[in-house]
Amino acid sequence: MRVLGIDIGGTGIKGAPVDTASGKLLAARKRIKTPQPATPQAVARTVREIARHFDWSGPIGCALPAVVKDGRLCTAANIASGWLGVNAVALLQKQTGCKVSVINDADAAGYAEMHFGAGRNREGLVIMVTLGTGIGTALFINGHLVPNSELGHLTLRGRDAETWAAESVREKKNLSWKKWARRVDAYLRLLHNYFWPDLFIIGGGVSRKWRKFLPQLKLITPIVPAKLRNEAGIIGAALAYDHERRRARQRRSLG
Ligand code: BGC
Repeated sequence: MRVLGIDIGGTGIKGAPVDTASGKLLAARKRIKTPQPATPQAVARTVREIARHFDWSGPIGCALPAVVKDGRLCTAANIASGWLGVNAVALLQKQTGCKVSVINDADAAGYAEMHFGAGRNREGLVIMVTLGTGIGTALFINGHLVPNSELGHLTLRGRDAETWAAESVREKKNLSWKKWARRVDAYLRLLHNYFWPDLFIIGGGVSRKWRKFLPQLKLITPIVPAKLRNEAGIIGAALAYDHERRRARQRRSLG
C-alpha cells in the first residue's frame, strides 16, 4: 500500500510517500519549516502543501507530538496549546480532501523501527525512546504497541524528565556529551527500574551521533541506536494508517 507519511515536529514538517510493505520512501522527502505559531490551521495548511507537492490524493498518515485518542489530541506539551482537544483527523481530512490517520510521533517512530529497523523480530518488552525537543516513548510488547505511553514526563530529580534530559536541553545548556550522557543514563535507569525492558532503542535526530553518548551509558539493558533515523516518523506514520485501516476492517468483519 502507498501512504503519504507526514511527521509534524516543532521545527519542521516532513513528508514522503511510503511503500508500507517495504518501508521504503517512494520519493525524496519534502520538508517545510513548521509555521510559527504552530496553530492547528497553520499546520494543516502546511500538511496540505506537502500533499500538493506530491500531487497526492491517496491516504495520509500523520505523526504529532501529543497523546492521540480517536483522532483527537489530548495533550500539548511540545506543540501549540491551541491543539488541545482538536480532532486532528477531521481537520486534516478537511484541508487535504484525503483520508487521514494521526498517531503520536514516538509511537510512529517505534512502529517503523519495530518493522524495518533496530526492533525487527525483537520479542519481550522493547522501549523506544526519542530524544529531541522533548522525550518521546513507545512501548512494544512482543511487537504490539501500547499507545501513548508518555514516559518522557516521568519525574526525575524533582522535575519533568524531558526538561532535564532531552537533546534540546543538551543544546540549550551547551552540555558536554559526557554530562548529557549521565542525564540520559539516569533517565534510562528510571525506566529500567520500573519496566525491566528487554531492549531500549534510542531515536531522535541525535541518534545519528550515538557514538558520542551510547558507549558511556552504564545500564545492563541492551541499548541500540535507531536505524531509520530521520525517516522513522514518516515511515511509522504511514504504517500506522495501514494498521488502523486493517483493524477497522477486522472490526467490521467481526460485526
Ligand atoms: C510529548 C510526547 C511526544 C514527545 C516527543 C513530549 O513532550 O508529550 O507526546 O511524543 O514529546 O515529541
